[in-house]
Amino acid sequence: MTLDISIIPSANPKSDEQVAEILANPGFGTYFTDHMFTVEWTPEKGWHDARITAYGPLTLDPATAVLHYAQETFEGMKAYRHDDGSVWTFRPFENAERMKRSSHRLALPVLEPEDFVQAVEALVEVDQRWIAEAGSEKSLYIRPFMIATEAFLGVRPSQHVTFMVIASPAGAYFKGGIKPLTLWLTEEYTRAGRGGMGAAKTGGNYASSLVAQQEAIAQGCDQVVFLDVAEGKYVEELGGMNMYFVYADGHVVTPETGTILEGITRSAIIELTEKAGHKVEERKISIDEWREGVASGEITEVFACGTAAVVTPVGTLKWKGGEVQGSTETGPLTAQIRQSLVDLQYGRAADEFGWMHRVI
Ligand code: PLP
Ligand code: COI
Repeated sequence: MTLDISIIPSANPKSDEQVAEILANPGFGTYFTDHMFTVEWTPEKGWHDARITAYGPLTLDPATAVLHYAQETFEGMKAYRHDDGSVWTFRPFENAERMKRSSHRLALPVLEPEDFVQAVEALVEVDQRWIAEAGSEKSLYIRPFMIATEAFLGVRPSQHVTFMVIASPAGAYFKGGIKPLTLWLTEEYTRAGRGGMGAAKTGGNYASSLVAQQEAIAQGCDQVVFLDVAEGKYVEELGGMNMYFVYADGHVVTPETGTILEGITRSAIIELTEKAGHKVEERKISIDEWREGVASGEITEVFACGTAAVVTPVGTLKWKGGEVQGSTETGPLTAQIRQSLVDLQYGRAADEFGWMHRVI
């Protein structure tokens, strides 16, 4: 705890009734809590002026670097309420370390993991009434982000950087709740190549995914699947989720890291699946292996995972001129892994991995 955080409470917080109404049906990413955390960086002063203030718009000079060159990183994590009223985050230091790696890639300054976690947890504490009661699968989605805030149009790393944390009550990421997704395979667009930004959590990766996601929606699909840049052959990930494949003999495959985002859910699932007695392979999986495996019955379940999406089953895969239909139900291992993950996050199962971090 090295940040000296001043707290200036909002003069206009939402009423308890308004918060209750929002928590009854939060959706995803639509409502925001009463406060936000901000800290600024310059080469001379380092990180300074840490504060929690009323949530509200930013005033930015039109020449602010992030608006032009997208020098930006962000994270996604959640706070969960347990039955006894306590509040916990899930592996927050993993998010902090990933932001450090992302920020290195984007030539942004290092925010030390303990400062990152302190900032996140200070905001969660101030806005704790926004975390839904235990018993639902609701949570508080937390969005830390770092932006280049120097007003300068030269292309070089910004000499003024702002790190902020905002929070948003969350229900299911997909409108239909937990039902198998239909995915669209983009053969035209890719996400990230060797030496690119694929492993960094930075806005540009999401900006570049949108046209492909738009194509997916136009094809009646929920999400887009990206293949590798080099050969256009291997499955990478979805726009905002990692992927898993379950084989008939019980082993499980997830695409290896390198050009994909190293999901914190993905890595937890490796451990949970191994603990459940399944062999997990991190390796390349070609799109043909997927298509043929589902068609032949060798691949019995496909699912996607991420902080926002948790564990979401995948049903059909479509591409230009074809499709292969998987199950219309959530598969048994998908359901089991999902359950063991959420039980842990909501404190209903023992935290034998030491993944939960108590905030309140
Ligand atoms: N891949 C992408 C592109 C993502 O945006 C996300 C979500 O954060 C993930 C994978 C899953 O990562 P995590 O489990 O850390 O949320
Ligand atoms: C997350 O799961 O936290 C993400 O950032 C993904 C995004 C699609 C919401």
